[in-house]
Amino acid sequence: MVPDKQLGALLILLLGLVNDTLGGYVGINIGTDVSNMPSAFDVAAILQANQITHVRLYDADAHILKALADTGIEVIVGVTNQEVLGIGESASTAAAWVNKNVAAYLPSTNITAIAVGSEVLTSIPNAAPVLVPAMNYIHKALVASNLNSQIKVSTPQSMDMIPRPFPPSTATFNSSWNSTVYQLLQFLKNTNSYYMLNAYPYYGYTSGGGIFPIDYALFQPLPSVKQIVDPNTLFHYDSMFDAMVDATYYSMDAINISGIPIVVTETGWPWLGGTNEPDATVENAETFNKNLIRRVLNDSGPPSQPNLPINTYIYELFNEDKRPGPVSEKNWGLFFTNGTAVYTLSLSATDQIAGNSSSVFCVSKRNADPDKLKEGIDWACGQGGANCNAIQQGQPCYSPNTFQSHASYAYNDYYQKMRSAGGTCDFDGTATTTSVDPSYGNCIYRGSLNKSTSSGMAPVAFGPISPMGGSTKLPVKKV
Ligand SMILES: *[C@@H]1O[C@H](CO)[C@@H](O)[C@H](O)[C@H]1NC(C)=O
Ligand SMILES: *[C@@H]1O[C@H](CO)[C@@H](O)[C@H](O)[C@H]1NC(C)=O
Ligand SMILES: *[C@@H]1O[C@H](CO)[C@@H](O)[C@H](O)[C@H]1NC(C)=O
Ligand SMILES: *[C@@H]1O[C@H](CO)[C@@H](O)[C@H](O)[C@H]1NC(C)=O
Ligand SMILES: *[C@@H]1O[C@H](CO)[C@@H](O)[C@H](O)[C@H]1NC(C)=O
Ligand SMILES: *[C@@H]1O[C@H](CO)[C@@H](O)[C@H](O)[C@H]1NC(C)=O
Ligand SMILES: *[C@@H]1O[C@H](CO)[C@@H](O)[C@H](O)[C@H]1NC(C)=O
Ligand SMILES: *[C@@H]1O[C@H](CO)[C@@H](O)[C@H](O)[C@H]1NC(C)=O
Repeated sequence: MVPDKQLGALLILLLGLVNDTLGGYVGINIGTDVSNMPSAFDVAAILQANQITHVRLYDADAHILKALADTGIEVIVGVTNQEVLGIGESASTAAAWVNKNVAAYLPSTNITAIAVGSEVLTSIPNAAPVLVPAMNYIHKALVASNLNSQIKVSTPQSMDMIPRPFPPSTATFNSSWNSTVYQLLQFLKNTNSYYMLNAYPYYGYTSGGGIFPIDYALFQPLPSVKQIVDPNTLFHYDSMFDAMVDATYYSMDAINISGIPIVVTETGWPWLGGTNEPDATVENAETFNKNLIRRVLNDSGPPSQPNLPINTYIYELFNEDKRPGPVSEKNWGLFFTNGTAVYTLSLSATDQIAGNSSSVFCVSKRNADPDKLKEGIDWACGQGGANCNAIQQGQPCYSPNTFQSHASYAYNDYYQKMRSAGGTCDFDGTATTTSVDPSYGNCIYRGSLNKSTSSGMAPVAFGPISPMGGSTKLPVKKV
């Protein structure tokens, strides 16, 4: 749901709604226009292995909602733009939607918000009259089920709603939307919800015709002669992201409705583009997202709202190769579908998430032939020289006592030792590499950063088939 190009620059943010003393968090969007979409189980495993605590879905896919059960991950589910029309015209359609797509998964799946449509006003303007009614009906359905205090209703809006975002202090919503925006903000205010903002400095920069330095879009320090200052407030804007978020706060102020926090539901940077998209590079994408994460986790707000953290969802988990449009449109993902990171990034400040060649693991493939797995284990632990003590009875990696699990341990131990000497991860086709750390409980795989030792969970991702065990509320990480 990348918005059309927009003038000006901006940015994102949000806040810990229930408990803002927890500070800001960074979540991720999961788009599914992907040819080799991993199974819902593998998606959940990738999220957990990378300690991702918040996700946004564009729909309410049953498989992924089930796979997210008991993971502690907080979920925004989406009403698709197509569904908005029907729901906006019928309270009973809204109630049925809530029952089928939300209530059915609670409480195991921690759904905390419903995003009604995606950039509805700018992408399907003729649906404007039903947008707020749809949100109202959904909210009433939640009230009827007594779910309204735990689940917020909102609707992500593009920065294109604000024609001139800079300087932020003079920004206003496009007046064509006056009445809808007014109703929308009233609704958000009355229901204690938040404004969902999709803010892309990438588009602000690339469509800005050179007005803004790229460092401003990438959260890099600006030389003193290029500081971006709002002439009315004299606030310094260190990044376009902050300016975009503030432009949205000021636009709300301009219609005299304030006190609604902003959550950035989308931002990111594409890592590959066509020949006419020179700014879509791995280096820029990595710089943007790294700096974004640092920015959000520092817990400060934009200049006009310094105490409101800017909670943010990065766009996006996987590259959506099936999306139409320019090359860049298909390359916003942080991960390939095999779980390998496109570039190194940690969504929490303290953990290395993935991507280093040093954090590649070798594990058994799911559904591999058990006889071949047994041969592989015997070889790895024998001739291969792997240290297989941990999978002996009574040792931390013995359970689950399956060839699949034991093979993963043995293969990886061999691979970590022998890779630099040319050892491969194949084992007669029963092995595969992954950046997802297969460690669990006290079973620590060689090469692991030992970060996932506390939960007692069953192995995740590409490992042995097992439920996503014990509920683990992942901690909010701070810088
Ligand atoms: C779901 O998320 C909310 C918001 O952070 C949190 O307060 C609640 O404890 C979570 N519920 C479960 C079951 O984890
Ligand atoms: C405001 O929105 C209308 C309707 O989409 C559009 O025609 C107009 O150009 C916009 N105004 C500005 C200043 O962008
Ligand atoms: C929208 O509201 C603004 C501020 O109240 C006003 O100046 C403008 O005329 C309104 N526009 C329309 C199209 O109603
Ligand atoms: C907002 O409030 C101010 C001060 O009360 C008032 O002057 C202004 O007309 C109001 N604007 C709108 C759009 O209602
Ligand atoms: C947090 O980020 C803001 C915006 O870039 C910056 O002004 C502020 O100094 C940072 N605070 C800390 C403690 O790093
Ligand atoms: C990742 O690679 C970089 C550069 O090679 C290195 O400095 C860093 O320590 C590595 N991080 C981890 C977690 O291995
Ligand atoms: C994962 O997929 C990407 C893209 O297809 C590929 O470049 C990478 O080598 C793969 N990684 C592994 C560990 O198979
Ligand atoms: C991980 O844990 C193992 C076993 O407890 C230990 O030997 C190893 O040094 C640890 N590695 C790191 C990077 O902490």
